[in-house]
Amino acid sequence: MNSAVNFMAQPARQLTGDIRVPGDKSISHRSIMLGALADGTTRVHGFLHGDDCLATLNAFRAMGVNIDGPVNGEVIIHGVGIDGLKAPHHDLDMGNSGTSMRLMTGLMAGQSFDTTMVGDSSLMSRPMRRVTDPVTIMGADVSTIAGTAPVRITGGARLRGIDYKLPVASAQVKSCVLLAGLYAEGQTIVTELVPTRDHTERMLRCFGYEVHNPQPGVCSLMGGGRLSAAEVDVPADISSAAFFMVGSSIAENADINLRHVGINPTRTGIIDILRLMGADIRINNQCIVGDEPVADIRVRSAPLTGIRIPEELVPLAIDEFPAIFIAASCAEGETVLTGAEELRVKESDRIRVMADGLKVLGVDAVPTRSGIVIQGGNGFTEGTVDSCGDHRIAMSFVMASLRAAGDIIINDCANVDTSFPNFVSLAGQTGLAVDVDSQSRQHLSMGSYPGG
Ligand code: S3P
Repeated sequence: MNSAVNFMAQPARQLTGDIRVPGDKSISHRSIMLGALADGTTRVHGFLHGDDCLATLNAFRAMGVNIDGPVNGEVIIHGVGIDGLKAPHHDLDMGNSGTSMRLMTGLMAGQSFDTTMVGDSSLMSRPMRRVTDPVTIMGADVSTIAGTAPVRITGGARLRGIDYKLPVASAQVKSCVLLAGLYAEGQTIVTELVPTRDHTERMLRCFGYEVHNPQPGVCSLMGGGRLSAAEVDVPADISSAAFFMVGSSIAENADINLRHVGINPTRTGIIDILRLMGADIRINNQCIVGDEPVADIRVRSAPLTGIRIPEELVPLAIDEFPAIFIAASCAEGETVLTGAEELRVKESDRIRVMADGLKVLGVDAVPTRSGIVIQGGNGFTEGTVDSCGDHRIAMSFVMASLRAAGDIIINDCANVDTSFPNFVSLAGQTGLAVDVDSQSRQHLSMGSYPGG
């Protein structure tokens, strides 16, 4: 049923509006995890009501945590305390969500009961050794099938703190180790060579847990502490705003204001990369909400030029590359991405799937081992592309309709619900013309197209 959700995007030339995209996915996940383990009642505002965050929420409900909502982005979590979770009666189904499975590997490693985590076919094929290796060094009893889920954790292990150098630039791995560190004896230290998103560190502090940064790139905490309930205001997700930032940059006639977007410096690679290409992006009304910087982002049409993307920006824009490839296809000249092999193990192999789709749409896109080379400037032809169930690829190809000669049909789009459930209606409000396959619209609210 899910795979029957297809989008048809008709050519559009204009993108305008003043919109707020849904809540940040990374922060929403963490608010449930820390709220559940805190003493007291945590209130979350702006929670992302998407399938990935609901997978996390349902996992904690299955472990005995009372959670009210989400209703209009409000969630109330009745924390059970650091040792208050109960054994679930079934496997925890993380759906499409790598963040749920990887962060919770750290948390589950510290519990007294056994857990098994499963997911959909994409998640079941993603690499899990990156999290099971460090928690095993910490003393956890964890198994996988050749490095992939199901992840089975035998409870009751005594964890010891470690001093861990991240072998991959991954906030999920860093967070997994820090969360296991809450349950470990002594100090847990994580060192990263390049900065990755630091929402876990920031939110732990908001919940009253001390996290130190003895030097840049190093963070540490002592096990055995407790978390106190907090108020969490989730900003709009810059990764969802990114589609409209790219759309507004490539459309002939565009002016979009994106309200209350999280601009944590570990997430703003998309702004830097688009600006290097010549985009017109203004940051207004900057403020700090909770412990996260937030701003309104205004983007207007601008002529883009191809660039060599600086490798140090890759982890800071890791989820935005499908959208960046659409911008690169419209930019005059060559864009070269290197140092981004991680894209091959996201919800899909984003280098291969994007290159295949771009070629269908008449773009000269050559995948390389760790990136892609795109010759841009001619826009897109009409055609049918496959998102391979990858939410960010589906939404990126919708933005291509702003420079397309004909209709773009995008197959396998149900997973847009994982991160951006109202994408189609917001896209419609701003000037895009997206129809959804009529057979399977239970989650999506737009019209249908004949024969869909
Ligand atoms: C996330 C970290 C990133 C990102 C993912 C969310 C997080 O993954 O791709 O969508 O919330 O920590 P990696 O840390 O593995 O790059």
